[in-house]
Amino acid sequence: MPEGKRSFSGFAPRSKSLVPIPDAPKAAALHAAGIPKLYDPGLANTVAYLSSITFLDGPSGILRYRGYPIEALASSVEFDEVAYLLLYKSLPSLRQLQAFRVFLADPKVARLPEHVSAVVRAFPISAHPMTILVSALASFTAAHPHLNPAIAGQAVYRSTSNRAEAVSCVLGALPTLAATILQHTSGEGNGLQRSNVKSTQCSEAPSYTKRFFQLAKPDTPTVLIDALDTLLILHADHEQNCSTAAVRHLTSSGVDVFSALSSGVAALYGPLHGGACEAVVHMLERIGSPNEVINFLQRVKDRKELLMGFGHRVYKTYDPRARIVRKLVQSVLEHVGDSADPLIRVATTLERAALDDEYFVSRKLYPNVDFYSGIIYKAMGINPSFFGMFFALGRCAGWLAHWMEYLDDPDRRIARPHQCFTGILGPLKVPSIEERKEYNMFNPWEKEYISAKL
Ligand code: SDX
Repeated sequence: MPEGKRSFSGFAPRSKSLVPIPDAPKAAALHAAGIPKLYDPGLANTVAYLSSITFLDGPSGILRYRGYPIEALASSVEFDEVAYLLLYKSLPSLRQLQAFRVFLADPKVARLPEHVSAVVRAFPISAHPMTILVSALASFTAAHPHLNPAIAGQAVYRSTSNRAEAVSCVLGALPTLAATILQHTSGEGNGLQRSNVKSTQCSEAPSYTKRFFQLAKPDTPTVLIDALDTLLILHADHEQNCSTAAVRHLTSSGVDVFSALSSGVAALYGPLHGGACEAVVHMLERIGSPNEVINFLQRVKDRKELLMGFGHRVYKTYDPRARIVRKLVQSVLEHVGDSADPLIRVATTLERAALDDEYFVSRKLYPNVDFYSGIIYKAMGINPSFFGMFFALGRCAGWLAHWMEYLDDPDRRIARPHQCFTGILGPLKVPSIEERKEYNMFNPWEKEYISAKL
C-alpha cells in the first residue's frame, strides 16, 4: 500500500479549478457511521477513483482532457500531442514533441519482440483482431522482465525511467502490432518484416498515426491519415469507462502494465463498449435501407434489438465526440468519392428518426462516439472486425495516463468489492454420491448421456 493515505475531508478547492470539485464522502466513513454498504449494479453511482486527467459533464455534453475542450484539441493538434498531454499533464513544445516521436519511433521499442510476432502468427487468420491484441499485448511482459513487478520487485514502477520505458514500449510498438495484426488477419502472412521499422533522425520522426499507415497501408492519402489521427484523439481517454476502470482494477493488484493494458483491451472488445463501433456497421447493414429504419426502431422498442451506437452511461445529450465524427464522415466520404455510401443514408435516417422518437428522447438516448466512426473506417477499406483496434490505438494513451496516476494515488489499494449473499447456508452434512438426488438436468451432456443410460 503506498506510503500514507489521503486524509479525506473532501477536496480543497484548487484555485485553478475549472469546476467546483464535488465532495464525494468516503464510503468507509459512512459505513463507520452506521450507514450500510450500498448495492450499486454497474457501479453507476459509485466514485471509485480520483483523477485529474479527463473531465466529463454528461448532462451538458462536455469533454475536456487536462482542461482543454475536446473540440479545440481535435481541430488544432495531433494525437501525439494529446497523448503527451494526457501522460505528462501539459502539451509538448515542438522540441518535446519531436523527442517524443523519436523516442517512440526508435526500432528498439517500435519493432515487435520476435515472440510477440510469433503470438500473432500463432492465431488462425480468421481470429478476431482484438482477440489477438489481448494476447499479444500481455505477451510483451516476457520481453521486459525488468518492468514486471512479479520478477523485478514491487517497487519497479516507483522509478520514473521505468514508467517512461513502459510508456515507450507500449506506444512505440502498438502501431507496429496493429499493422502486423491487420496484415495477418488480411491473409497477407507476415508481410511485415521487422526491418520495416526503420531508424529515424530527430526532426523527421513520423507521428504515431503515420507509423501505423507506413507499415499497414503505405499509400493511404493524407486526408485519411488526418481523419484517423482525429479519431485517435477522440478515443484517447474518457475517464472511468469500463476498460479504463479495468486497467485500474488490475493495476491495484500490482500486476505488470502490459497485463493490465491487456485487460483494458479485453473490456473494450465488448459490443456494449468499444466493440459497438463494429456492431453499428453490422446493424446498419442488417437494416439495409432507409425504408427499413422504422421497422428496425420498432424492434428496438419491443426490446428485440439494441440501437447500437446510441446511449451512454454519462452523456445524456449528444456525445460531443459524435458531433465531430459526424462532420469528419462527410469530408472522408467526399474524398473517397463515396458520399452516397448506402450506410451513411441509413445512419442519418436512423439518427433523425430516433432523435424524433419519444421512446429514445425520454430515455436520453443520443448517438455516441461509435455511431458514425465505423462508416469512416469502412470508407478507408478497413474490415469491421478491425475497428476496435483503432479504438485501442487511441485509448492506450488514456490507459497509460490512468495507470501512472493510480500508481501515485495514496488511496490505491487492491480492488475487492463486496457482495450480498443470496444463496443457502447448509445443509452441513455432505450426502454420499448414492444419496444425491438429480436436480436440474438442464446440461446438454446430462440429457444426452443420462437419457441414453435410463
Ligand atoms: C462507449 O463509458 C464510456 O465512457 C464509454 C465510451 C468511452 O469512450 O470509453 O464512451 C465508449 O462504450 C460508448 C457506448 C458504446 N455502446 C453502444 O453504443 C451500445 C448500445 N448502448 C447501450 O448498450 C447502452 O446505452 C450503454 C451500455 C452504452 C449504457 O448502458 P447503461 O448506462 O447501463 O444504460 P441502461 O441500460 O441503464 O439504459 C437506460 C434505458 C433502458 O431502458 P428502460 O429499461 O429504463 O426502459 O435506456 C435503454 C435501456 O433499455 N437503452 C437502450 C439503449 N441504451 C439504453 N435501448 C435501446 N438501445 C440502446 N442502445
